[in-house]
Amino acid sequence: MKNFTYHNPVKIIFGKGSIARLKNLIAIGQKILLTYGGGSIKTNGVYDQVISALAKHSRVEFAGIEPNPRYKTLMKAVKIAQAEKINFILSVGGGSVLDGSKFIAAAMHYQGEDAWDIPASRARVARATPLGCVLTLPATGSEMNANAVISRDSTQEKLAFYSPLVYPQFSILDPQTTFSLSARQTANGVVDAFVHIMEQYLTYPAAATVQDRQAEAILLALLDIGPKVMAEPDNYDHRADLMWAATQALNGVIGCGVPGDWATHSIGHELTAFYGIDHAQSLAVVLPALLRQQNKQKWEKLLQYGERVWQIRDGSEETRVDLAIEKTELFFRSLGVGTRLQDYRIEADGLERIGRRIFERNGKVGERGDIGAEEIDAILRSALV
Ligand code: NZQ
Ligand code: ZN
Repeated sequence: MKNFTYHNPVKIIFGKGSIARLKNLIAIGQKILLTYGGGSIKTNGVYDQVISALAKHSRVEFAGIEPNPRYKTLMKAVKIAQAEKINFILSVGGGSVLDGSKFIAAAMHYQGEDAWDIPASRARVARATPLGCVLTLPATGSEMNANAVISRDSTQEKLAFYSPLVYPQFSILDPQTTFSLSARQTANGVVDAFVHIMEQYLTYPAAATVQDRQAEAILLALLDIGPKVMAEPDNYDHRADLMWAATQALNGVIGCGVPGDWATHSIGHELTAFYGIDHAQSLAVVLPALLRQQNKQKWEKLLQYGERVWQIRDGSEETRVDLAIEKTELFFRSLGVGTRLQDYRIEADGLERIGRRIFERNGKVGERGDIGAEEIDAILRSALV
């Protein structure tokens, strides 16, 4: 096991009716910027619950943070937040609203010329406005981590940043807020959480028995919950299980002391940046193709994954590795998420931009640093049809 430091300061408030707790979570006297997306919170009753909990608080609203939150939109919020002397940001929505709010929190205090430097040049975040979250979409784990991913239209870029200063102070997770999710967003959430675990688990053996078993437990839970939540979207227990699984998948615990891959996410972000497909759709395309392409490097873990997660015990090692990957892909498809580029009408032309750009920006990626432009191109081409 590698050395690690783990500190997670996010207070999680989980369960039915917990939005009312907002009243006591934010001090009266704070000036709140209430951020949200395109309006789902207005139709599913979440907005009303938030407003009623904040009846005595002073607040300004910023609506319209889009999926894959855009730099241009967020900079408008930064201007408002500065002018209004905001000292607390409350994000109400999915991962995009929360990531966007993390960016606003940091960009408000950025002293350099352009806050895009935060994701683009890894500029240091020296200060950030405190924030809290009411999560309405289980998927990203953003509610319990310090990451954010921001997109920029003009350059077709989608880039992440990390700063311990943008951990939410608290995250309210009321599974009832997720009843209104479409089948597509629900399935996306299952896939995103699944792939977060795979990025941290499906690498090479690292003498991390606890982390492996924890990762396998959440994967098994997702295999169990996925079909159930799709079949019974109004079942509270399934919604609650999915919400907690997605948080656990990317709150840092299973990543302690182990290598991380994250190449699927790097490639997926480029697919979203260039073609606009949903984050989870991009992952469903890339992960199976990447596992096939990198199967030699990941051999031992693929066998372990096949046996412990899919109960694959018979046949040659080759057969078991192939089957484990096949079953993963079929699981995504069973949820209705396409796993080939043709499912999203993406053709071969222009794909080479992706590997080139990742390599220019980050060099080779993956847990062994052996995935370069050529490998990325091969992965994407193998995922065409
Ligand atoms: O904008 P509104 O109207 O709220 O609608 C949203 C949006 O259209 C809708 N939605 C959210 N909650 C709903 C709902 N609709 C009905 N009922 C509800 N309860 O769902 C749509 C998608 O929302 P979005 O926030 O974009 O989805 P998600 O939570 O999957 O977030 C995706 C973003 O997070 C980033 C992704 O790259 C992408 O930009 N990620 C962030 C990570 C992190 N911070 O750690 C890690 C992830 O790997 C990921 O990269
Ligand atoms: Zn993800």
